[in-house]
This record gives sequence, C-alpha cells and structure tokens, in this order.
Amino acid sequence: MTLPAAERIIVALDFPTVDEARKFVGQMGDTVSYYKVGLELIYAGGLELLQELKAAGKKVFLDAKVLDIGNTVERAVRNIAELGVDMTNIHVHDTKTVKAAVCGVQGSNTALVGVTVLTNLDNRDLDEQGIKDDLAVNNLVLKRAIMGKLAGLDGVVSSGLEASTIRNQCGRSFMIVTPGIRLPSDKIDDQERIMTPSRAIANGAHYLVVGRPITQDANPRGAFARMVADIEGR
Ligand code: C5P
Repeated sequence: MTLPAAERIIVALDFPTVDEARKFVGQMGDTVSYYKVGLELIYAGGLELLQELKAAGKKVFLDAKVLDIGNTVERAVRNIAELGVDMTNIHVHDTKTVKAAVCGVQGSNTALVGVTVLTNLDNRDLDEQGIKDDLAVNNLVLKRAIMGKLAGLDGVVSSGLEASTIRNQCGRSFMIVTPGIRLPSDKIDDQERIMTPSRAIANGAHYLVVGRPITQDANPRGAFARMVADIEGR
C-alpha cells in the first residue's frame, strides 16, 4: 500500500465535547484527511460529528471497540457500517464474536479491524489477569491477530512493537493500525508500548493513530507536520 505519509495518520478526536472537536477539525483544515471518533466523543454527540466529517469529505474510523455476545455484536456492527464509516473495530476476544462482527460488515465498505491487546497494557497487567508468561503481550497479540485473520477481519489494531511479527505471520495485505505513536520529544502519557511514526511504518503499520501529541500541542498543525516529516525521513 503506497499511501502518502499524511494519509497514513489518523488523528484521534479525543475531546470531551463535540464543540471542542469541531473547533479542532476547523483548525486543521485540509491538513488531516482521516479522523478517529472514539468512546469519549461517541457518548457526547460524536455520531453527529461523524456525519459532518463524512459530509466534509473526511475519512472516519469509528473506534467503537465492540465486545458482547455474537448476536449483539453482529447487529451493533451492522448499524455502525450503516453510518458509512470507513473503518471500525471490535475486541478480538474469541472466534465466535469475530465471525459475528464480520457478518455485520458484509456488503458494506466499512473495514473491520480487531483490537489485540490495548497499547497501555504490559506483561504486568496481563499477569494480573492470570496470563503468566514473560512474552505474554507478544504471544497474545499474535494469537489474537491470527485468530482474527482466520475469522475474516481486515486487520488489527496493535502497537508498533508487534507489527513486524504480525506482518510476517498474517501477510502484507492484513491491515495494521498502530496507536501509541510518539516522537522522542513527545510526552508518553499513559501509553506503554510506544514507537515513532517512521519505525512503526517500517515495522509494517499501514495506519498510525495519533491523539495527544497532536491534539494537545500548542501548534497542532506543526505537530502533525513533524509526524509527516518523521515518516518521510526528513
Ligand atoms: O493520545 P494518544 O496518541 O495516546 O491516543 C491514542 C488513541 O488510540 C486513543 O484514542 C486510544 O483510545 C486509541 N487506542 C489505543 N490503544 C489501542 C487501541 C486504540 O491507544 N490498542
């Protein structure tokens, strides 16, 4: 996939209100072509904003992180696809729910990706859940990526650290969407498994999800441009 650097960056609209998100989108103008609407904004009028973004010609990733019993997952994902979003996601939990979600997007143009292990978790967090293994995160991410691929997902959400293994095991066309992106000068915030934009792409990521390093910067256009420059090796 030979996408220009700027089109690989999905900016996470993690704002408490639609007004703040709308103001930010206006500020970014044509700079950003792909936005992510996630859980914070969904419950604060984000679905309305989503329609505005689509009408303005933007691509939208609805970060719904769906997980429930198969029947509910299928119906929820079908309704999400009917919103006309370009991408949405579910948690890769078990084959049954993934297959149900895949049925939900059938016949639509919505790409369906699965969250493997959230990028703010590390081996200690998995140990707490009874997964005791020095390579717990790596193993679980790969296991879930393969499970998702076999069940029909278009790709996965995973940190840049696991992207190369997923690419090797699941093939180049299996989409990898990578959050936890930071330049060395950025604050890490609550993320654990972080990586620079250029390294994540070199490791196989197709899209990068970036939130606070851009949205919280005093000059968000400048912050976006720094990410693009890093990808382009400038
Ligand atoms: O601000 P920051 O760049 O850390 O934002 C990352 C975004 O990616 C957030 O919107 C978060 O919900 C999302 N995300 C993540 N880890 C995942 C999946 C999604 O951080 N595994």
